[in-house]
Amino acid sequence: MSWIRDKELSLIERLCANVLKAGPVPKHVAFIMDGNRRYAKKCHVERQEGHSQGFEKLAETLRWCLNLGICEVTVYAFSIENFKRSKEEVDGLMELARQKFTRLLEEKEKLQKHEVCIRVIGDLSLLPLDIQKLIAQAVLETKDYSKCFLNVCFAYTSRHEISNAVREVAWGVQEGLIEPRDVTESLLDQCLYTSHSPDPDLLIRTSGEVRLSDFLLWQTSHSCLVFQSILWPEYTFWNLCEAILRYQYNYTAIQKSRELYSRDRARLQSETDQTWVQQNMFCVEHRNEEEKTKTFQRLLLQCQTDREHRTQNFLRALERKREFFLQSLCTN
Ligand code: IPE
Ligand code: IPE
Ligand code: MG
Repeated sequence: MSWIRDKELSLIERLCANVLKAGPVPKHVAFIMDGNRRYAKKCHVERQEGHSQGFEKLAETLRWCLNLGICEVTVYAFSIENFKRSKEEVDGLMELARQKFTRLLEEKEKLQKHEVCIRVIGDLSLLPLDIQKLIAQAVLETKDYSKCFLNVCFAYTSRHEISNAVREVAWGVQEGLIEPRDVTESLLDQCLYTSHSPDPDLLIRTSGEVRLSDFLLWQTSHSCLVFQSILWPEYTFWNLCEAILRYQYNYTAIQKSRELYSRDRARLQSETDQTWVQQNMFCVEHRNEEEKTKTFQRLLLQCQTDREHRTQNFLRALERKREFFLQSLCTN
């Protein structure tokens, strides 16, 4: 079973997709693919079969997303909390991951054809070493594709991701790359595993559970959240259309709250810079008000340019550190 199904949409599905595409379609959709074990129980099949069918549903869903013009998908495949399940279940899920990543590497042409960039988001070091290596290979081989993006959250929780971002920032300060006053929401945002993706427009959770289970807590504060009662392996094209319709219904309100937030963030940053310059201007003597204003403007510009320079330098160092980790997994 491949990661992306080649099967085309039926005529009625195509028709419906075209109607939806006349409105705003979310660019980035996140899924909490929940309900595999309840599905297995309902169908009287083994639990592992439920997880396996869950993966097949992912492949089908990715095809629907491609057809609907959704170019980025993030899925919650395995949470750090899931390690607490029975050894038998965790081993089964790891085996499934092993098989699917091996298959993905065998089917490179398919990813190339659709130009799919695969990213695995989470704490890879918690995984068996052979799976870490497979993941590193898949991520590095597809990193330059940019038509569509599949982010697989594996060994992931949002709190773990945020704590890691804070540690990265602390490392930057310790190394003298950034200053404590450079630590802003925007910088933390860029230290998350998801730094290369825009925030999801739409988040869908299946199985009727109405909670986020520590998934993308930072990234979904302005996303449309849709909870659907269907179990993940039974998810249909029509369920996806319904979720998109709900997104379209809420589109204006979502855009408005996003705009307000980014405007506020820019204003806050500007105020912080101004305060810092004012506090550091006392040492400069001025002949008159005009000269004082000019000095203030010059120092403000300098402060902003310096901060931008330090931040970019730090983010490049972080990127190199992350790439080096993946590369060392492939070579050792
Ligand atoms: C989601 O389905 C898949 C994983 C967590 C790996 P579950 O395994 O949570 O199935 P339910 O929710 O117990 O039915
Ligand atoms: C969330 O589902 C994790 C995944 C879908 C991978 P869970 O089934 O593990 O979440 P809880 O335990 O019900 O909150
Ligand atoms: Mg569950």
